[in-house]
Amino acid sequence: MVTSLKGRHCLTLTEFTREELNFIIETSFQLKQRYLAGERVIPILIGRHLAMIFEKPSTRTRISFETAMRELGGNAIYLSSQELQLARGETIEDTARVISRYVDGVMARVFEHWKIEKLAMYSRVPVINGLSDLHHPCQALSDAMTIMEKKGRNIEKLKIVFVGDGGDNVLHSLMLAVGILGGKLTISSPPGYDPHPSVIKLFNEYATGNYEIERDPYKAVEKADVVYTDVWVSMGQEKERERRIRDLEPYRVTVDLMKNAKPDAIFMHCLPAKRGEEVVDEVIDGKWSVVWDQAENRKHAQKALLALIIP
Ligand code: CP
Ligand code: NVA
Repeated sequence: MVTSLKGRHCLTLTEFTREELNFIIETSFQLKQRYLAGERVIPILIGRHLAMIFEKPSTRTRISFETAMRELGGNAIYLSSQELQLARGETIEDTARVISRYVDGVMARVFEHWKIEKLAMYSRVPVINGLSDLHHPCQALSDAMTIMEKKGRNIEKLKIVFVGDGGDNVLHSLMLAVGILGGKLTISSPPGYDPHPSVIKLFNEYATGNYEIERDPYKAVEKADVVYTDVWVSMGQEKERERRIRDLEPYRVTVDLMKNAKPDAIFMHCLPAKRGEEVVDEVIDGKWSVVWDQAENRKHAQKALLALIIP
């Protein structure tokens, strides 16, 4: 039995047990089904407000959270960090204290992960990480939902492979989601691009599944059910572009690489994709790709999260 999740933050997904994570995902499926059956508004969060603070650009996260709040009967407020007093030096602590007197939940996309931790520490209401340099938990909720939707609920039976930058925020959250759900993740990345030590620490503490690193991408994707990649240059890493492209070049997801996976393997990407870099058009537009369903599921998974944690 899952007890109430009301008031819980969502910064890394380790706030939730395996049972709770499964419950959030099951709720996502139910909300999606009801939405597709024509129930456009499910009034669970009437009169509730979500503040959305963005330090970086966003297409999916912004729109899926805003529509999710509206479809739950609530309201979302878009706030660029540049237009808040934060830009003039008001502290994160004071901003959190004030904002959380007005709204019922805060979602923030920040450069450094410590900022979202500080926001949560001083907020009276639940704080949701909408991407930091280290984690992207909402993406991973949608990813777990999509994997289950396409390949069945038994995640522990699947071979899930991430090819590319092993220090990527999306990979870190996928690793924690799969690990908490009891599954196994294979990471194929070059030396020097391994998961961040703080994420490995969380994994060892909270995951019941495991992960392995296989440097050879062709070996890594053998018998894979899921092949996942993300950009080689994340927001905030622009200065490292040249080195990253050079080092990650052998990890491009090509048709040849996909042919090494199971014939019915799916290809996933959090988007936005840098076509021609980490993935070629023939894969992202090809028979393997589930990226549009994956993007769509962001809204359904976040609706479940919001409905369950906002008081
Ligand atoms: N996947 C994702 O978070 O996309 P946006 O940067 O467009 O929000
Ligand atoms: N790793 C990417 C994900 C974008 C959704 C970034 O941080 O830019």
